[in-house]
Amino acid sequence: MVIFDVETSSPDETREIAKQFAEKVKKGDVVFIEGELGAGKTEFVRGFVLYHGIRLIRSPSFTVVFEHMSRFGYPVYHIDLYRFTGDFMELLERGIIDIFEKRNGIVLVEWADRIEDFYRSTYTVKIEIISDAKRRIKIEKY
Ligand SMILES: Nc1ncnc2c1ncn2[C@@H]1O[C@H](COP(=O)(O)OP(=O)(O)O)[C@@H](O)[C@H]1O
Ligand SMILES: [Mg+2]
Repeated sequence: MVIFDVETSSPDETREIAKQFAEKVKKGDVVFIEGELGAGKTEFVRGFVLYHGIRLIRSPSFTVVFEHMSRFGYPVYHIDLYRFTGDFMELLERGIIDIFEKRNGIVLVEWADRIEDFYRSTYTVKIEIISDAKRRIKIEKY
């Protein structure tokens, strides 16, 4: 079921949509975020975690798993699989398999298409670049 299908005209608007969406997402849910480089996946995550009282800071790009504490008292995991090579051992070593199995918080995954053969999401966010500042954001619930 499509729950959002909107166009945004700025990073601000994308963050705002993500904040609205965040109100619906519950502990235990998994959110896949897909879209090419520069689509706005991280901007989306930034808006999403703001709802949880978390301020995303620029982190070294080699970091794959970020764990934040929500103001609601559970973790929000932000996983960025940009550099994921498809090696399952890497998922194990980085604790990602553990995160998916525990589901003790909310899991947000950038470049989720790289693991969608192994895991399912509660929601999938697809961000498409329309022009310089325009993005189409489509969110589906399964
Ligand atoms: N409508 C928009 N929504 C989100 N980002 C936008 C938008 N318009 C321009 N941008 C820019 O696109 C870039 C998105 O970067 P980022 O979120 O890091 O992308 P990704 O994580 O998908 O690679 C940022 O530089 C942001 O300022
Ligand atoms: Mg990103």
